[in-house]
Amino acid sequence: MQQDSTQAGPSGNDSAHLAIERRLRGLIDRLPAGDRLPSTRTLVLEHAASPLTVQRALQRLVLEGLVETRPGAGSFVARPHGVHRADFGWQTTALGAARTDADAIGTAMASAGPGVIPLHSGYPAEDLLPTRLVRTALVRAARTGAAVDRAPLSGLPELRSWFAAELAPAGAAAAAPPAADDVVITPGGQSALSSIFRALAAPGDAIVMESPTYWGAMAAARQAGLRIVPIARGTGAPAAADLDDALGASGARLFYAQPHFANPTGALWTSAERSDITAVLRARGVYLVEDDWAHDFGIDTDVATLAADDPDGHIVYVRSLTKSLSPAIRVAAVVARGPALARIQVDRTVDDLYVSGFLQQAAVDVLTDPGWRSHLTRLRGALRGRRDEMARQVRGQLGAESLELVPRGGLNLWVRTADGVDVTDLARRAAAEGVLFSPGGDWFPAEPTGSFFRLNYSRARPELFEPAVATLARLVL
Ligand SMILES: Cc1ncc(COP(=O)(O)O)c(C=O)c1O
Repeated sequence: MQQDSTQAGPSGNDSAHLAIERRLRGLIDRLPAGDRLPSTRTLVLEHAASPLTVQRALQRLVLEGLVETRPGAGSFVARPHGVHRADFGWQTTALGAARTDADAIGTAMASAGPGVIPLHSGYPAEDLLPTRLVRTALVRAARTGAAVDRAPLSGLPELRSWFAAELAPAGAAAAAPPAADDVVITPGGQSALSSIFRALAAPGDAIVMESPTYWGAMAAARQAGLRIVPIARGTGAPAAADLDDALGASGARLFYAQPHFANPTGALWTSAERSDITAVLRARGVYLVEDDWAHDFGIDTDVATLAADDPDGHIVYVRSLTKSLSPAIRVAAVVARGPALARIQVDRTVDDLYVSGFLQQAAVDVLTDPGWRSHLTRLRGALRGRRDEMARQVRGQLGAESLELVPRGGLNLWVRTADGVDVTDLARRAAAEGVLFSPGGDWFPAEPTGSFFRLNYSRARPELFEPAVATLARLVL
């Protein structure tokens, strides 16, 4: 007869339960992970205990993560010494090589802890955003149907009209200005680029890019299985002849570029460069993906987009509001004509179905408020002060030759140090001293052509530019 039944007193149950637990712990210490433990039936017989008591003992060890039970198979040692070592080795075989690895994510996206001077980040400080307008717009949007409705697939009509109207300002002489129907709303510029690359090219195709260029565009192209063909540029546009050669040799149908205040160099195409490049695109039947990321960050001049005057649909235009309106309102637009737009729309829908109508409504509210224009005017002044102060510090402390261009807009200075300086190592040493910046290697599709780094002047407080650049000067010189 069993000494310990479910009807037995608590002390009998407990001692049997503890004895079973002790025995199992002893086995767990000795046996390798994955080994089978005695069955419930064996433990019942060994300890003259009820099945329920055996189950209680096992349950406790399962909760501690020491035992794993598999229904129908029994109980097994889960982790012998309290250290869980999962075996994900099978995934190496299953996945194969990565299209884009974690290194492809630029250091510009790193989070900065307190006390650090963030010259690496691409997202402006709160005092450069229309914070009051954004908060009010979010409260208002919460009271509209957009807070509970599904948005149309291409985006809210008012927002699409706003983006189209921005490309066709009153009085402009464009032959065929884009209309609201040419606009697809996306959740940020990054997803717009991913969709364009996937929709307009096939894995294995080539895509031409300026070098250096935005790391996120390179990552999106690689993720889409595209082969990047770099063409060099200095402080202006790439040479039209180089573009023509690269397109001819690679068979690429896409050219990704930032004609206005390019990230990271700050380069701005001149009107002669624009017409030379446009002529090549037309002659070769190629799309220009015009990434107008810095539209709202003109300092000495406004942006005049190529997409505003593009009757044949060679320009696929991307404009994001996430940096100028609010990084929390991730709203951007793709503007394109003809079948290209339809393909991009399909890709967006397959990927995301639609963009939050609530965020789109808040964006419309900010953009149609008279305060938006006055915000942009204030922003221009603030960016001018920041850019000039950073340029002064760089030239004064790192040498005049380290800055080939003071950009006429945008958020960054592209700094060159002496050849042979390992800027990745410099970034590591500067980070240890509380200064973050983005090393040049992040921005080149192939080997960097020199020792460059990018300093962003839109996030850290301007009074910290002087000590931050002093740290860099001390580490580099
Ligand atoms: C050149 C450029 N394009 C596109 C993006 C993507 O912007 P977002 O997805 O924040 O709209 C960025 C962000 O840093 C950028 O620098």
